[in-house]
Amino acid sequence: MNDLLYVNGGNPLNGNITVRGAKNFVSKAMVASLLGETPSTLRNVPQIRDVTVVSGLLELHGVTVDGDDKAGTLDLDPSNVIAAHVADIDAHAGSSRIPILFCGPLLHRLGEANIPDLGGCAIGDRPINYHLDILRQFGAVVEKRSGGIHLSAPKRLQGTKVHLPYPSVGATEQLLLTAVLSEGLTELSGAAIEPEIMDLIAVLQKMGSIISVDTDRTIRIEGVDKLHGYNHWAMGDRIEAASWASAALVTGGDVTVNGASQSEMMTFLNTFRKVGGEFEVHDWDIRFWHPGGELKSIVLETDVHPGFMTDWQQPLVVALTQATGLSIVHETVYENRFGFTDALNQMGAHIQLYRECLGGSPCRFGQRNFKHSAVISGPTPLQAADIEVPDLRGGFSHLIAALGAKGRSTVRGISLIDRGYENFQEKLVALGADVERG
Ligand code: EPU
Repeated sequence: MNDLLYVNGGNPLNGNITVRGAKNFVSKAMVASLLGETPSTLRNVPQIRDVTVVSGLLELHGVTVDGDDKAGTLDLDPSNVIAAHVADIDAHAGSSRIPILFCGPLLHRLGEANIPDLGGCAIGDRPINYHLDILRQFGAVVEKRSGGIHLSAPKRLQGTKVHLPYPSVGATEQLLLTAVLSEGLTELSGAAIEPEIMDLIAVLQKMGSIISVDTDRTIRIEGVDKLHGYNHWAMGDRIEAASWASAALVTGGDVTVNGASQSEMMTFLNTFRKVGGEFEVHDWDIRFWHPGGELKSIVLETDVHPGFMTDWQQPLVVALTQATGLSIVHETVYENRFGFTDALNQMGAHIQLYRECLGGSPCRFGQRNFKHSAVISGPTPLQAADIEVPDLRGGFSHLIAALGAKGRSTVRGISLIDRGYENFQEKLVALGADVERG
């Protein structure tokens, strides 16, 4: 099968779809199961490629993974954790960023860890210096090897005091997954506090951890000697929910997203309303629609929680091409997250990129050579095109643009979207889109 989707644009998306557990939480909760002495059960698990990749890595380490895809249940039994063959581990190189989070749990369980070279979206340099510094502070020895890294713990890891220069999601999770079984107290200042991290803390607390979070981004962990399994319902995917909301706006449609939750999407909802979208919050879903009339241009800056998520940016930019006037978007989390706008320009959008920090406060990319601000001039009708998916969220944005464009687009490299959007083609069809896999 060719890895492409033909999209006959111009139909408003209308109807109901369901989003299940958040990709950026579920994968971490799966890793956390390694820390328990008894089995864990994770519920509301989506069928996405990141879940398959992490399941494979857990199985290589002796964890029994039993899933019921339809029910969204995953049973993870870590009773017999073993060291995996390095060649088998390295076969996972480039598949995901999650393997770096195996370090702490494997060091606790086995005294050593081999981690393959990481993958993930090409939206910036994505270094792992914070991760490795944190692990060294706990007492791990880190060695670079061909194809990945090797870590060892000469003795039990020791609690420590860490300050993050930037509130990195992954580094905060690294610290949590390492500190819970380390000896003594760990304190992290400058921590990330995304809802997905709070849900991971909830899982770790269920397992027997002692973790407190202060309002000033300081997290304190009292290490314990052992943890047990958990049973947990994963929080919904607020990135996927916002992606469908943007798709409703671009196509002039009306989409109800089951599993979307207001409390985790407050900042998105404010922005959606400012742009001119309407929404209605119900107990188990949120309905998003285009009320007719003009969309409004805005000035927007992405930021860590509780700011506007970087992952919401790309789908919303497509909607901004349909807004009247000049919108300014300043991307402050990743230095290179506007690559997807080339295709939008090819389709008729007017988006110009700048190195300067436009429309907000200066960020750490300002004095460097990164085009991390975008000025979008609209409204510009979009025309069908032949386009290539650049990364996960950028790829979904291309899909949205194709759905809103006149004519038949060809969207290539579509399987990248399977990494984080469950059954997206079925959902598109359910919403009335005219799409066909090539
Ligand atoms: N950073 C460093 N050094 C490090 C780690 C991070 O400089 O050691 C920098 C990064 O280069 C980036 C910034 O810190 O500029 C933030 O990165 P962070 O560590 O917060 O991101 P992450 O943990 O790699 C997760 C999500 C991303 C999401 C970000 C921000 C997962 C698997 N990925 O990435 O999700 O954009 O947090 O919320 O949880 C996506 O789902 O499409 C996606 C990219």
